Amino acid sequence: MDIPVENAAAILRESGCTIAVTGAGISVESGIPDFRSPTGIWSKYPPEHYATIDAYLANPAKVWRFWRQLAIDFAACGPNPAHFALAALERHGYLKAVVTQNIDALHQAAGSKTVIEYHGSARKLFCLDCSATCPMDMQALSDSPPRCHVCNGLMKPDIVMFGELIPQEALRASAEWGDACDAVLIVGTSAQVYPAADLPYLAKRNGARIIEANIERTSFTETITDVFLKGPAGQTLPRLAQALGLEAPEAHAAE
Ligand code: APR
Repeated sequence: MDIPVENAAAILRESGCTIAVTGAGISVESGIPDFRSPTGIWSKYPPEHYATIDAYLANPAKVWRFWRQLAIDFAACGPNPAHFALAALERHGYLKAVVTQNIDALHQAAGSKTVIEYHGSARKLFCLDCSATCPMDMQALSDSPPRCHVCNGLMKPDIVMFGELIPQEALRASAEWGDACDAVLIVGTSAQVYPAADLPYLAKRNGARIIEANIERTSFTETITDVFLKGPAGQTLPRLAQALGLEAPEAHAAE
């Protein structure tokens, strides 16, 4: 009997509105490294040189090559049992929405329907001059930064770089869920980046119960987490789904 999983399942059974808040850790078992673990992306590519809007504007070619390769790497990865478990929880009414900090679109690929991409998506491009967007066509990606099909302005991956604002719609929708929910399932985030990390605290202030799945303890664990599911999300979340009587989630890919 896995007590934490049983306690988490009890919270989900009693909850009328559970949301998930996910970070890079949920995609690690898909083959996408996280950012801040010792071998994470930022250990090789310091964010101040590759993930700020100022760095991109100062050297678009260098920063574009980094994000282009990351988008290609993401496109080669698929959802893992953790993503499928969240999609199964949604399908069976135990989860209302996923607010993800991830830009890899793996929640949608696993079949999750209500997904708020808090930091945008690496699958799209955005024009810095006219705000036009277009899908990132993996085949057409070249080494040089993309130019806008409408105004020929400089485009960037449609992600939130450091120094940029969270998209208004993502802010609004996630705050609404944070107000409405009575349980939050936090998966694979180091709780270090704001305003995304505010959301579980907002929910807790509103009386929500907090379940956290991570391989390590975080500042959430030390302050607001009620049930800590220690271990790789690809193992803990399927166990949570199965404790709720759901079949092995990986059987379901996106319809
Ligand atoms: N299962 C569960 N948790 C895991 C796993 C796993 N298999 N592997 C790693 N983790 C945990 C790590 O212990 C860490 O707490 O996932 C977390 C990943 O933290 P970060 O690398 O900081 O990623 P994240 O929290 O998503 O970063 C937030 O920062 O760099 C920006 O925009 C970027 O969206 C990102 C934001």
